[in-house]
This record gives sequence, C-alpha cells and structure tokens, in this order.
Amino acid sequence: MKQLEGRVAVVTGGGSGIGRALAQGYGAEGCHVVVADVQDDARDETIALLEADGVTALGVKTDVTDTDSVEALAAATIERFGEVHIVCNNAGVGGGGLIKDQQLVDWKWVIDVSLWGVIHGVHHFLPHLRAADEAHIMSTASVAGLTAGPGLGPYNAAKYGVVAIMETLHHEMERDDDCNVGVSVLCPGVVNTNIITAQRNRPDHLKRAKKTGAAGKDAKKFNNAIAAALANGMDPSDVAACVIDANKNSQFWVLSHPEHLDDIVHRNESLHTATNPTLRDGSIGG
Ligand SMILES: NC(=O)c1ccc[n+]([C@@H]2O[C@H](COP(=O)([O-])OP(=O)(O)OC[C@H]3O[C@@H](n4cnc5c(N)ncnc54)[C@H](O)[C@@H]3O)[C@@H](O)[C@H]2O)c1
Repeated sequence: MKQLEGRVAVVTGGGSGIGRALAQGYGAEGCHVVVADVQDDARDETIALLEADGVTALGVKTDVTDTDSVEALAAATIERFGEVHIVCNNAGVGGGGLIKDQQLVDWKWVIDVSLWGVIHGVHHFLPHLRAADEAHIMSTASVAGLTAGPGLGPYNAAKYGVVAIMETLHHEMERDDDCNVGVSVLCPGVVNTNIITAQRNRPDHLKRAKKTGAAGKDAKKFNNAIAAALANGMDPSDVAACVIDANKNSQFWVLSHPEHLDDIVHRNESLHTATNPTLRDGSIGG
C-alpha cells in the first residue's frame, strides 16, 4: 500500500506502548484510527492524544481473547467507517519464569492473549480486508518468535505461533489471484513499553497462586532483569515507523532490531547442521 491517507487502520492493544505508537503513526499518515484495548483509561488516553492531533479516531473496548469481542470490534469499525484497510494484531502479554515453575494458568493467559488474540483478529478481519481495494494485516510477534531462549516458555510458544500464522497467510495471499492483502509480522527485540506490568490486565480466573521460595526468587530476578532492559529499550515510535514502512513497501518481515539477526541465523544454523541449539552472548535469554 503506497497510499495511507484516508485509510482505516485498526490497532489492538492500542492503549499503550507499541500499539499506541502504531495508532499515532498511522494517524500521522492521515489514516482514521480504531483503537482497541481492554484497558479503558489507556484506550481513552490514546484517543485523546489522536484527537488532539486532529486524527479521526474511534475507541472500542475489546478483549482479544474473546471471539465475540473481536467480531464486535470489526462490526463497530465497519459501522463507523464503512470499510477497513489496515489491521495491526498487536495486543500481547508476557511474563518471565522457567517452564518447571509455570502454572497452567500462566500458559493459558499468555496464549489466550498473545496467540488467540491474533487468531481472532485474522479470522474476523480477513473477510473485510479482502473486500477492500487494497489492504494490509500485521501481527506483532517478537524475536522470541524466531529464537526460544530460557525463561519465556509460554511467550515463546505464542510468538512462534504468531510467526507461523502470518507466514502461512503470506504464502496464501501470494497464491491468491484476487489478492489485495499484504501481510507483515513484527519481530522486535526490547522496546520501552509497559509490558513488564502486563499482569494489570490479567483476569481474576487466570491469576496464579503466588510463587514462593526459589521459584518466587527466580521469577523476581528475571522480571527485574527484564524491567532494566525495557527501560533502555527502543522507543515504540521507532518500531511503529518500521511497521508503517513495511506496510508501504509490502515487506513481510519487520525486524526492527537488526542486532538480533545473527541470533536468528545462529539458531537456524543449528537446525541446518542438526547440532544442539546454543545461545549467543547478548541474545534474548542468552
Ligand atoms: N516491549 C517489548 O520489549 C516487546 C518486544 C517484542 C514484542 N512485544 C510485543 O508487542 C506487543 C505490544 O506490547 P507492548 O510492549 O507495547 O506492551 P504494553 O503493555 O505497553 O501494551 C500492550 C497493550 O495490550 C493491551 N491488552 C492486554 N491484554 C489485552 C486483551 N486481552 N485484549 C485487548 N488488549 C489487551 C494492554 O491494555 C496494553 O494497552 C505485544 O504483542 C508484545 O508481546 C513487545
């Protein structure tokens, strides 16, 4: 898509971090922006920022884990704007901890939001995107969708799944004669957002029993290390700029952190040579 002016863009998780930056970035390109988020105050704040910049914006309370909620988001978008051209399945959550210490509710919550959220977004928006004259769909994965370091089991699983869905969709759209839908997957390294407090939106029925003893200390240590890294992470607006460039240039891979490319090559070499995976120094989890 070369021309973004006047297009309708939907961003899930648009209340904070990368999602807010995407909403602002698409707004600055002249798009009408739909901000979908489960957190009311954050969503309202993004809407206020967009409107202050003169962007036509619609906020929709959306829980991406809930198929009906995402279907209602698509319906609200069509009702307000008549069509949709750009969808960013961006909402995602994560938390640290070794697999031996994970509880099933940890897996369930992370995969519900970060993987099922993308499945719901693709499922409910693809028919509308295919009906548009041209369109683009992007999902936020992570470097953790391309290399699986320790301490992020559920997150790695969700993000590998997101990469697989978008790669599959890319091939399918390429083979579709009526194809008008570009596909991208965003695989960032560390970005300075609020993801470290993702638990703020964790539903009560998926809250975990408190970790105690060594497991509690490990999780705390891991989360402290992530918090320190996030504070020095890339600015979300730089990540959003990479996504918008990829949208304009029909580019599938959005690798905002080129410093991790060697980690991915290193991982794939172990596959190619059938040797056991190792992590390079400086790689995520390495
Ligand atoms: N921050 C990083 O270092 C980093 C790195 C790689 C990938 N990512 C990915 O980027 C995406 C955005 O995360 P972020 O870092 O901006 O975090 P963030 O916490 O700042 O923003 C995430 C947004 O998603 C919303 N959200 C959470 N659960 C939701 C649900 N069930 N339904 C709808 N909205 C929900 C939150 O309210 C929040 O506004 C995620 O998919 C995350 O996994 C982040």
